[in-house]
Amino acid sequence: MNYRLAYAVGFHPWESAIETPAFVASIERLFDEAEVGRDPPYGSALDLGTGSGIWGVELAKRGWQVTGVDIVEKALGRARDRVDEAGVEMELVRGDVTDLRGAGVDGEYRLVLDTGTYHGLTSEQRAAMAREVDAVAGDEATVLLLAWEPKRRGPLPRGATREELEANFPGWEVTDLGRTNFTAPKPVEILMKPNEHWYRLRRE
Ligand SMILES: C[S@@+](CC[C@H](N)C(=O)[O-])C[C@H]1O[C@@H](n2cnc3c(N)ncnc32)[C@H](O)[C@@H]1O
Repeated sequence: MNYRLAYAVGFHPWESAIETPAFVASIERLFDEAEVGRDPPYGSALDLGTGSGIWGVELAKRGWQVTGVDIVEKALGRARDRVDEAGVEMELVRGDVTDLRGAGVDGEYRLVLDTGTYHGLTSEQRAAMAREVDAVAGDEATVLLLAWEPKRRGPLPRGATREELEANFPGWEVTDLGRTNFTAPKPVEILMKPNEHWYRLRRE
């Protein structure tokens, strides 16, 4: 998927997830579970492929110290506007998820979120992203990642499975948490059958 072009022409249908109550309920439940038994501030969170910062801003509102990374400057510009509008603190970094440390993104993140980046990467990029996440996630980290089910979809994400995640994240236990309840625009939903699932990863 050419995200630079997509943002340039204003094509970002994934952003309608915030207007999909069933998806919002599913992501909020996962955030609740990552916070259970603790009070804010919850610690550092990394939003991979943050786009216009929708979910990073939601995490910041909840009391996480958030860093958002994206490779597309136009997306980051929109994220800056969203952060300002929300009146929250969120660090925004232009960088590649396959080389987080090269972009200066390092540390021991407690929560790592990926709403739609990993499953659109090539096999090599996925392996590199997994190595980077392993390097910057703390011992107690939770990784929350969504992926479409595998299918050839031309320029759209080809998806991923739990087994493929396990292969890229050795040392992590991968749990399939079931449907995210996101409904893509009708033609995509019918032709591309996203059948999008949440996965939770924790160190074994
Ligand atoms: C499907 S969008 C999701 C955006 C955001 N997470 C959301 O849910 O609104 C995927 C995002 O990943 C970014 N992205 C794709 N490949 C990337 C890479 N190698 N490094 C950093 N960001 C990347 C894109 O620019 C895009 O913003």
